[in-house]
Amino acid sequence: MAGAGISTPSGIPDFRTPGSGLYSNLEQYNIPYPEAIFELAYFFVNPKPFFTLAKELYPGNYRPNYAHYFLRLLHDKGLLLRLYTQNIDGLERVAGIPPDKLVEAHGTFATATCTVCRRKFPGEDFREDVMADKVPQCRVCTGVVKPDIVFFGEELPQRFFLHVTDFPTADLLLVIGTSLEVEPFASLAGAVRSSVPRVLINRDLVGPFAWQQRYNDVAQLGDVVAGVRKVVELLDWNEEMQTLIQNEKEKHPLGDAFLFVAV
Ligand code: OAD
Ligand code: ZN
Repeated sequence: MAGAGISTPSGIPDFRTPGSGLYSNLEQYNIPYPEAIFELAYFFVNPKPFFTLAKELYPGNYRPNYAHYFLRLLHDKGLLLRLYTQNIDGLERVAGIPPDKLVEAHGTFATATCTVCRRKFPGEDFREDVMADKVPQCRVCTGVVKPDIVFFGEELPQRFFLHVTDFPTADLLLVIGTSLEVEPFASLAGAVRSSVPRVLINRDLVGPFAWQQRYNDVAQLGDVVAGVRKVVELLDWNEEMQTLIQNEKEKHPLGDAFLFVAV
């Protein structure tokens, strides 16, 4: 289970960290209260703040970091049953984790839906509009087109419910970079069998790690990248990580700067 804390090393602010989190930096988005940015009622009156965020997060601006590549390595080794992420930055896909291994629980910019006629479009169709600070419009009915990001009160994507049965079959749960404050995602941490170790890698104790620890829970507190590095060292996967990251760097020479930040 992953959240915004796996992407802060790539330069994307999280939501709830006081000071740097998006919800402490409302002026930039011109919204009256934090959650307005993901509220339909507000969006229909003023979609601009959401599209300011969309412009920032549209695929292409950021590169995955060490934490994403660790999850990719788990997949390469056949150890990743599923990656449940709350992130809408798409960096798991960019890191090479195949879509069938991913549940993007809070949606994605990869697709978009007309708020009036409900037609679906590829997110790419609206890149130009979003980059030009234009609110994208449906080419059929001229309604506002909203990227398929889950707003408060909206139903989660079908895949969330389809794969929820993974949890009772898992034999290890990693919880990385999330405050576990948003339901129903947060409750999934309780859905693994009680004999299954749960490993938290995060700045602070969150969710059941704070209020209902199990005897076999493990918390690696502090910086996410440092925590993941420690796990990689314990597993003796250092060399494989370096090779993976080196190969990715060669594929994306322009992304070097971000890789160097966090590797
Ligand atoms: P939060 O901002 O609520 O939590 C991020 C967690 O990661 C916090 O516990 C931070 O302390 C921790 N963290 C951040 N950077 C870190 C670092 N470099 N090292 C260690 N820990 C770090 O983000 P989420 O839990 O992902 O909804 O938030 C859940 C949902 O709330 C989001 O998906 C979003 C928002 O409303 C949508 O986007 C629809
Ligand atoms: Zn339409």
